[in-house]
Parts: sequence; structure tokens; C-alpha cells
Amino acid sequence: MKTLLTSLSEAAAWSAVARREGKRIGLVPTMGALHEGHCSLIERAALENDVVVVSIFVNPLQFGDPNDLDRYPRSLEADCLLAERSGATVIVAPEVAELYPTWPNPPETSVTVGRLGTLFEGASRPGHFTGVATIVTMLHQALRPMNAYYGEKDFQQLTILRQVGADLWSGVAVRGCPIVREDDGLAMSSRNVRLSSEARIAARVLSKSLAVAANAVEQHPEIAVADLEAVVVDALGFGGELVEPDYAVVVDASTLERWSGRIILGQVRLLVAAVVGGVRLLDNSDLTPLPS
Ligand code: PAF
Repeated sequence: MKTLLTSLSEAAAWSAVARREGKRIGLVPTMGALHEGHCSLIERAALENDVVVVSIFVNPLQFGDPNDLDRYPRSLEADCLLAERSGATVIVAPEVAELYPTWPNPPETSVTVGRLGTLFEGASRPGHFTGVATIVTMLHQALRPMNAYYGEKDFQQLTILRQVGADLWSGVAVRGCPIVREDDGLAMSSRNVRLSSEARIAARVLSKSLAVAANAVEQHPEIAVADLEAVVVDALGFGGELVEPDYAVVVDASTLERWSGRIILGQVRLLVAAVVGGVRLLDNSDLTPLPS
């Protein structure tokens, strides 16, 4: 059996055989440009399942801006090595023509997300979560894994995928995995390779702002949410002019509703987004101090 399949229907057939053999399938959907964050998802999938499928597909339906799609990093050969080394049994890298035969016209059917899809990232990137929910639903349907693994770095995405799975009765357990960070705290992301050296330094301010917020909560457990959010925006300001903050919000970790009242650790999530030197970066925290 070769590891790299270039068609989703071939991968679906492989998955049907694996299921008939009683194997537990773990799925790690990715857009490639794999880094240690992805490796941690694949490693966990390998621990919790008998076989692991990694999908690599730069999904055009989730990009509003065609330039962003063109600039998205692609590195299939290196990705395959990394995925295999981390425990992938099969890698599927399908073509756009197979998944969206009408492309560049959008598919006839898509999965629309309600309120959750209009907030934060959805407000800045209209249609983004329709694209994500549609491709993930397609992958879950075609491959019918027992478990699918997503990073907490994209916290809103993870929340949405849990909701979509529940609403559409996918039968797939959506597993969230902790953020993996560079030594200086920057959350790993495929987009980080697009940062210039100055922007890469400035980008540290995202995780720093989360640390400042966690510290503020530790020092002042009664801090008002608006004050805490202002602390984060101020901290982002130290990144200099390369950093354009988009949002810094404290939300209910399960509904993403804006939080009000006293911060309750374990129930809240602080979400931040900023464009740094032209690259959109996300980070988030449960407001417990980051390990140093
Ligand atoms: O997080 C990502 O890389 C993508 O949004 C996903 C979940 C693979 C869907 O294309």
C-alpha cells in the first residue's frame, strides 16, 4: 500500500476496508505546510487509533482573498515525510477538480454556519467558515473516521467543527489539541513562514499579550472584562507599527458568547487576532499562566 493517495475516493475506499477490518480510524485534516503543531495532532491520533489518515488540501472555498490562497505555503514532499514520521498510515492530497468539480464556481451544496460563523474570524473573513465546515463535512463523510483532530490555535474553528458535527450527526468525535509554541511563545502556524524577519520578531507580542492578561487575572481576579481586553490591546501596541490588532475578546469557551462578569478560569477563553507585517495571526489562552 503506498502512503500518498491523490484522490479522496481512493482514500474513502481504503477507509471502508479499514473499517471492515474493525480498525479505529483517526483523521487529521490539514492544508499542508506541516509543522510541529500538526505533528502533535498526528502523534495523538496514532496513539488513540489503529490507523491515521492525514489529509492535505489547500481548500479554496475557505479563502475569500485569491492572493491569500496563492500565497498559502505548499510543501507536499516535506509534508509527507513529516506526516509519516509522526505516525500517518495514509496521506491523501486530493485535487481541487475532484472535490469541487465546478470550481472556480462554488459547489452546489455547502454547509452554512449560523451565529458562530459570523463572529470574530467570520466577521473579518466572510464565507470562511462555510468553506471550513463544507470541506470538513466532506472529509468526515468520505473517510468516516472515529476521531478527528484539530488544533486549539484555531479555537473558533474547533468550536464550530464541534457544533457542525453535533448538528449534522456526523458520528465523528472532534478532538481538540493544545497549541504548540515556538521557543519565544509564538503559536505555530503554517502562515508563520510568510513573516519577514522584522514581523517574526514583532509577532511575539501576541503570546506576550496573553501572558500579560493571565498575569492581570492572577493579580486582580475581579478585573472587569472590558479592562482585561484593554490590557491586551495595550500589550499588543508594544509590537510596534507592524502589528495591527483586529480583536481581543474574552468569550465563553463553549459558546463563544462575549463573557461578562467575573472571570471564571476553565469557562472562558481569550481570543486575539492581529495582522503582523501583512500576515494574519491568531492566538488564544484559557487565562492560566503560560508555561515559561
Ligand atoms: O485548520 C486548517 O488547516 C483548515 O481550516 C482545515 C480544518 C484543514 C480545513 O481546511
